[in-house]
Amino acid sequence: MGAESYLPEHVRGIAGLRSAAEHCEGCDLFRRATQTVFGEGKSRAASILVVGEQPGDMEDRAGKPFVGPAGTVLDDALELLGVDRASIYVTNAVKHFKWEPRGKARLHKNPSAREVAACRPWLMAEMQVVRPALVVCLGATAARSLLGPSVKVTLQRGQVVAGPLGCPVLITVHPASILRTKEQRDRHDAFNRFVGDLRPLLEYVGTGV
Ligand code: URA
Ligand code: SF4
Repeated sequence: MGAESYLPEHVRGIAGLRSAAEHCEGCDLFRRATQTVFGEGKSRAASILVVGEQPGDMEDRAGKPFVGPAGTVLDDALELLGVDRASIYVTNAVKHFKWEPRGKARLHKNPSAREVAACRPWLMAEMQVVRPALVVCLGATAARSLLGPSVKVTLQRGQVVAGPLGCPVLITVHPASILRTKEQRDRHDAFNRFVGDLRPLLEYVGTGV
């Protein structure tokens, strides 16, 4: 169990990692997903690496991270902050979509701690290549993958803490949690709070080496 044995012997760049990850069978999630959804974006001297949970239904079909509704929330927040998505690297803690059938729909299921651990070598390899000035964890799955099981997103959101490979890590909620907020006014507040949490990243934009 685990992605380790699927990694290329020498990690040279994102393209090589991405093609190796296409064949990953490090956990059972590859069986029911359409394809591996690897990270993408600015992979050289990227100042910011954003980590979500796992691809959703649309990402699974498109083969790209954060292209569905949660991605729109992320894009809106970045736009408000004046950050170009093309200038950052976006990925997920888990690279295959976990779902169960609900009628004709594919219902998102949370990845288990085992699946997150199995997929972690890909995330660490992405971090080694990108060498971000800051990692942004969107939600508990990403935060636990990089910071361990004791991280508390609701208490620590908006904070920058020390992460693996000497990278500072900014913690915030997952944008899908904003979409799940029922009342429109609450949703608006949740979005504004999300943007507020992300504000520290402005200090790191463009500072990658
Ligand atoms: N949610 C995530 O965590 N990642 C995606 O890529 C899409 C939705
Ligand atoms: Fe490999 Fe990750 Fe997919 Fe599991 S979820 S098969 S570890 S790429």
